[in-house]
Amino acid sequence: MSVIAVSRDDCTKCGVCVNVCPAFIISMEKGDYPLVTEDKEKRCMRCGHCEVFCPFDALKVDFKGDYPANFNPRALDIKPDQFGKFMQSRRSIRQFRKKPVDPRVLDDVMETVRFAPTAANRQKVHYIVIMDTEKVRRISALAIEWMQKVMSEQPDHPYADIFNGMIEAYDQGIDLVCRNAPHIIFAAVPTNNPFAVTDAAIALTWFELVAKAYGVGSCWLGTLKLAAEEYLPIQEELHIPKGYLPNYALIFGLPKLRSKGVPKRDPLSVEYI
Ligand SMILES: Cc1cc2nc3c(=O)[nH]c(=O)nc-3n(C[C@H](O)[C@H](O)[C@H](O)COP(=O)(O)O)c2cc1C
Ligand code: SF4
Ligand code: SF4
Repeated sequence: MSVIAVSRDDCTKCGVCVNVCPAFIISMEKGDYPLVTEDKEKRCMRCGHCEVFCPFDALKVDFKGDYPANFNPRALDIKPDQFGKFMQSRRSIRQFRKKPVDPRVLDDVMETVRFAPTAANRQKVHYIVIMDTEKVRRISALAIEWMQKVMSEQPDHPYADIFNGMIEAYDQGIDLVCRNAPHIIFAAVPTNNPFAVTDAAIALTWFELVAKAYGVGSCWLGTLKLAAEEYLPIQEELHIPKGYLPNYALIFGLPKLRSKGVPKRDPLSVEYI
């Protein structure tokens, strides 16, 4: 069975599928229907472009995976100006209500995040979502424990000021690591895929934006990323699969405060050449 199945009733031999295939594996001999020869099948990255760009619904891919649970083509009509404002109004949220995020809302968010791009369409990002707030507290405690260890071994660490500040605040009952957030999402990636770190960053960027659309606020956690990458007790707590390392993390929850506008930023540094 080939990775593509072409309906002879519907295919007009327009050649669009041949042109859109990023792996250049679809061929169409003169007058014949498109096909992927057996020797080329391994190069298919399962991107599905041949199927979704076919103007006549004549081609179906034949590999594992499933379509979005909900796909509303009308959502594609979003106005650029509206979308731009939505993006610009994204803010890092660090004050959260106590009320947890509804797991059903999270399911919907993750169902969209599932479609974030990954290099060569590998789709190897593994998510760890901590819904249990007590566990979030444990992660904060472990991150502080790691910082204390780093400070005792490398007092000149480049982030010494930040770590010492977080340790001091923690001693006074203030959690600057996870900001008393109710939940965390980690993206873990395989250690043997050099592109996967970027995949994780893209996936969490999607998470942040999609979550915002559902009224859920989030914030990137650089210090927790460092701690999780280096401190085994955190990785154990997160059940990181073998061959994976935790990458970035976001805290998230229902925002306590609402920002009214968009803050100032530097002018764009760009050269069009
Ligand atoms: C980090 C990263 C690197 C990528 N590099 C390339 C590339 O060098 N050439 C290319 O044609 N596509 C590249 N892509 C696009 C992916 O192949 C594409 O996102 C994936 O096949 C899924 O298709 P989609 O974006 O249409 O969902 C890259 C994507 C990511 C996230
Ligand atoms: S894009 Fe669709 S109609 Fe056109 S050649 Fe490919 S399968 Fe046939
Ligand atoms: S799924 Fe992507 S890579 Fe595979 S045949 Fe279709 S267009 Fe080409």
